[in-house]
Amino acid sequence: MSINYDERIPNNVNLSSDKRLQRALETWQPAFLDWWKDVGPVGFQTDDIYLRTAISTAPGGWAQFGYTKMPDYRWGIFLSAPEEDRRIPSGDHAGEPVWQEVPGEYRNSLRRIIVTQADTEPASVEQQRWLGQTAPSLYDMRNLFQVNVEEGRHLWAMVYLLQAYFGKDGRDEADDLLARRAGDADKPRILDAFNQPCPDWLTFFCFTCFTDRDGKYQLGALAQSGFDPLSRTCNFMLIEEAHHLSVGETGVERVLRRAAQLAKQDPNGDARNQGGIPVAMVQKWINYWFCYSIDLFGSEISSNAADFFAAGLKGRWNEAKDYTDHSGLNQQYTLPMVKNGVMADGDVPLRNAMNDVLRQSYIKDTERVVKRWNQALEEEGSDERITLPNSRFFRRQGIYANLPFNPHGELITKEEFDAKLPSWLPSEADRAYVATLMTPCTAPGQMANWIAAPRKGIHGNPVDFEYVRHV
Ligand SMILES: [Fe+2]
Ligand SMILES: [Fe+2]
Repeated sequence: MSINYDERIPNNVNLSSDKRLQRALETWQPAFLDWWKDVGPVGFQTDDIYLRTAISTAPGGWAQFGYTKMPDYRWGIFLSAPEEDRRIPSGDHAGEPVWQEVPGEYRNSLRRIIVTQADTEPASVEQQRWLGQTAPSLYDMRNLFQVNVEEGRHLWAMVYLLQAYFGKDGRDEADDLLARRAGDADKPRILDAFNQPCPDWLTFFCFTCFTDRDGKYQLGALAQSGFDPLSRTCNFMLIEEAHHLSVGETGVERVLRRAAQLAKQDPNGDARNQGGIPVAMVQKWINYWFCYSIDLFGSEISSNAADFFAAGLKGRWNEAKDYTDHSGLNQQYTLPMVKNGVMADGDVPLRNAMNDVLRQSYIKDTERVVKRWNQALEEEGSDERITLPNSRFFRRQGIYANLPFNPHGELITKEEFDAKLPSWLPSEADRAYVATLMTPCTAPGQMANWIAAPRKGIHGNPVDFEYVRHV
């Protein structure tokens, strides 16, 4: 599955054998580049950035590292290798051969699933476009741009599916993907989290840790799809996605370590007096992005989720490995629900709860991340700890939406909730304070005061390597 870089659009799908598709994608390519220049990273477009580029989809040694100007990045179409005699993993068609074409009866559902995923990719580039201006180091700036170019590539991955398998509808969708804008009042992105502003680097780290991780689980569920090209596309995106998650996870960890170090230096034990972001403030950012990200899984009870699972369009996380029954039939799923103002458990058919099944896999993963952050705080000699809010807190989607739950998941009065919310989520004053810390550090090895240096650099290079070269 090596990648052909001789063509205008690098690919491993033998694009030149389908002239119509190739022409359609080559027509879309300049529109994509215009979009990148219009709403991609502000500044640095003519600088040399130390980026990785995919050269093969085989495991191990799949990427090559070197200086590239962002607009020259070779965005392309890469699918993981086909699995021989692959079978539909779950739902009513479990065990049947996978589809290489879109089944007519699932065409609309599949199109909707692909467009919804696709829309998140350019959205995050738009949300993050100003961050290069305030990067806390060249190392971090490079990671931001790496994430950005790869989100652009994920858009290519999805646009390929739309154009290759959905005809004129797919081409129209591909155009619309470049027309919507994150946070735009008239033409917003489809999902709420992707319209939220990303004004500071703490937000960026929380976004890549929590919201990109939603992407990981959505892609994982789509990798279980009976529509094989979608499955193969998602499998390769997951390899790239791992880096985005580690940028977020290690980024938050470095902020916490620094907070602990600065608190220790301060006579009053206050990291803020020393120009850091106190652990309690980081906790608010975590609360906010965790809650927005778990909303992305959709409602706890969903007939769409049941239909997608039944059809074999989406599976559960690790469907093939972690489950023995792949039908999801004749099983109940227990959910805490609010009935007449009190909490009581209720049962729903498992298929209708598939959104929550995936959300719980995600939450388990984030709990592991929080454990690592708390280990870091312990190593730095801090007594403070990070906790994840309960998944009922501050929801805007699903059966707990807009109900006054506290971060422990207890139902409280609306008055108490409103009074305490500023202590749970970033306040205007918190945001204003963090904004004052966002001053750029552009000398190699230089690190903003509010964040600890990373343990190691990128691809064997030292931390003080010139990851972005101004030319
Ligand atoms: Fe992505
Ligand atoms: Fe990502």
